[in-house]
Amino acid sequence: MNKNKVIFCCSIHIVKLLTQILLFHLFLDLCTQYYLKMALVTLQKEVIICLGSSCFARGNKQMVQLIKKFLEEHNLSGKVNFKGKHCFGNCENGPSIMIDQKRYEHINAESILEILENELL
Ligand code: FES
Repeated sequence: MNKNKVIFCCSIHIVKLLTQILLFHLFLDLCTQYYLKMALVTLQKEVIICLGSSCFARGNKQMVQLIKKFLEEHNLSGKVNFKGKHCFGNCENGPSIMIDQKRYEHINAESILEILENELL
């Protein structure tokens, strides 16, 4: 085997090895970003307000504004995932909200602030 052929073969192996290392680092980077994102989502508190017609008509329309104001006043807007959903299927006990899977029923303007203080502060 001549010297040039050996150098050429070694160069190809080195390029292959560097490509594999680069791809492995890209893979690790993507995995790290994914798990960090998942951890942030998991750590976030979740507030879900029922926006079904019954709860909406009986007070949750105003609760949306109260909750938004509370989150802004306490700098929680980026830390709490606040969203609305359709009927929770428990209209007789509405208006309802859920905070991290815990349901609160018969809420009103006074009780919502107490609930938010207890759950989020
Ligand atoms: S509308 Fe809220 S539980 Fe049905």
